[in-house]
Amino acid sequence: MQNKTLLSLVLMVVGGVLLGGCEEPEKVETVRPVLIAEGEIDPAEWGKAYPIHYELWKKTEEPTEPGKSKYKRGFDADAITYDKLSEFPFMALLFHGWGFGVEYNEPRGHAYMLRDQVEIDPSRVGAGGVCLTCKTPYAPKLEKEKGFDYYSKSWAEVRDMIPEQHRDLGVACIDCHDNKDMSLKLSREFTLGRALERINVDRAELSHQDMRSLVCAQCHVTYNIEKNEDMKSVGVYFPWHESAWGDISVENIIKQIRGDKSVGEWTQKVTGYKMPFMRHPEFELFSRNSVHWMADVACADCHMPYVRVGSSKLSDHRVTSPLKSDLQACRQCHSETPEWLRQQVIAIQDRTASLLIRSGYATATAAKLIERVHAVEAEGKEIDQQLYEQAKDFYMEAFFRTLYIGGENSMGFHNPTEAMRILGDSTAFATKSEALLRQALTKAGVEVPITVNLEIEKYLNERGKKKLMQQMDVEFKDPFGVQDKLINVDLTSK
Ligand code: HEC
Ligand code: HEC
Ligand code: HEC
Ligand code: HEC
Repeated sequence: MQNKTLLSLVLMVVGGVLLGGCEEPEKVETVRPVLIAEGEIDPAEWGKAYPIHYELWKKTEEPTEPGKSKYKRGFDADAITYDKLSEFPFMALLFHGWGFGVEYNEPRGHAYMLRDQVEIDPSRVGAGGVCLTCKTPYAPKLEKEKGFDYYSKSWAEVRDMIPEQHRDLGVACIDCHDNKDMSLKLSREFTLGRALERINVDRAELSHQDMRSLVCAQCHVTYNIEKNEDMKSVGVYFPWHESAWGDISVENIIKQIRGDKSVGEWTQKVTGYKMPFMRHPEFELFSRNSVHWMADVACADCHMPYVRVGSSKLSDHRVTSPLKSDLQACRQCHSETPEWLRQQVIAIQDRTASLLIRSGYATATAAKLIERVHAVEAEGKEIDQQLYEQAKDFYMEAFFRTLYIGGENSMGFHNPTEAMRILGDSTAFATKSEALLRQALTKAGVEVPITVNLEIEKYLNERGKKKLMQQMDVEFKDPFGVQDKLINVDLTSK
């Protein structure tokens, strides 16, 4: 941090202005005296009272300029959707066996959340109606009215329960606001509400800044889908068991989901293991002691900065990456140039990506050796079960840590030191697992070559055909080029 930033931060604090509120907008008056009906979901109706917010909100539909963000290109003017499997091919190997190994795209604007589910490979919505939980403003209503059917019926059947004109509607005003006074309000009691109860949060104690993060935490969290014996979805929860406010740890999450048989959603093809999954833990990573969280900065500070439109100053409802809006958000608190800030972000992301690649390939190597062990056993050779069980345990610990940071959408920025710690631990577990598997194989009289062939091309080629064609020019991400030295994989043939 440069001195002048420190100085400006100090001045802000001395001036008695709270961070996050450094530039409060002028009070935004209702433009037209329109009453928003209780339970009104249609944003166009809310838009009659707040037309500028409505217009900004609609802009999440527009493509972003290419090149502004290095890792989160999402969706650009050439209508290319970037996918994680092309950027990080080890993911194609690890997720092979179900939807995420077929198509796993970088996120794009809020307007697309439901449309993207319509377009995505059908295997990705295999869990059923429950997939709509963070995609439609109708989710809370449907969950309440349909109960078991909401979870267990197919995705298409549940989508058909949404009024026709709103079957493509993404996050709406009602998801974050109270219709009476526009204050922030949580709409998803059945997920976030219960999770907050689980970590003993007293809702009355939540600050305004807390709410500016929690409205996002309704969806930008990891969650697990509960299955019954017939593998039908029966519920959804956030694995915050044994965690606390500001301290939701990856360790507790792993312990919970590994210990709960009902959340085994898929089978990893390479290892044959039935597994739970993790999704985008933005809130969990950010709120665990990150520098910005500790400084009382909220998600909305960086993703919904105050902007001036005509004579009004209001929160930017075109929610997107701060890099895509030239780091205006950061400049509410930091006095450095956008270029300096951008470099900070990219430097953090490059380091995280580098470690993610290390841990990802180390985990993939262990997976391939587990596959080998199973093949050797099938041939009737005996494998030392103690070594194998220990290796399997370490493999799981490695896999979930890699998945956690790989699924988190900031490439480390939300909490750089925590992300590096988690990836370091992942690599350590994976390396231990590999050593034990090599020992077990050697003991069984099987020779293992120095370089384990990951057959990456096979997994890349076996995913969905639809998007693959667009992905050919996507760069493989390896900012420090250590990859080739460590693992002998031919990535040029992807
Ligand atoms: C993803 C959550 C989210 C959605 C969806 C959303 N808002 Fe907001 N909105 C916010 C946040 C966060 C603030 C800042 C509130 C604060 O700090 O008190 C805000 C503030 C506002 C304000 C107060 C003035 C301002 O700009 O700070 C108005 C009015 C408003 N939103 C209208 C709307 C309308 C109309 C829609 C739908 C078209 C909408 N919002 C959709 C999160 C959301
Ligand atoms: C109802 C669920 C929901 C809520 C609430 C929500 N999001 Fe999202 N958000 C999503 C989904 C789903 C996507 C990915 C959409 C896609 O790729 O189709 C997304 C995408 C994004 C993106 C990527 C946008 C881009 O241009 O690539 C950002 C940034 C983001 N959300 C931030 C936030 C913030 C900040 C809040 C709170 C103010 C918030 N979201 C509230 C579900 C939600
Ligand atoms: C201090 C600023 C800051 C805070 C606070 C913050 N973010 Fe971010 N966020 C970023 C940056 C920087 C990126 C990386 C963007 C990029 O690479 O283009 C990012 C990336 C994201 C993305 C992926 C964006 C995309 O275009 O694909 C999502 C989603 C997201 N953040 C959600 C959240 C949520 C939810 C919270 C609160 C729990 C939050 N962020 C808090 C700065 C912040
Ligand atoms: C609401 C105010 C606020 C916003 C918005 C904000 N920051 Fe910060 N930032 C802080 C504070 C406060 C600190 C901690 C300063 C300190 O103690 O040294 C900080 C620290 C940092 C650091 C040093 C982190 C570290 O680990 O020491 C970086 C880099 C940074 N911010 C980048 C950004 C970027 C990039 C954005 C926009 C995406 C952003 N900040 C948005 C207030 C903010």
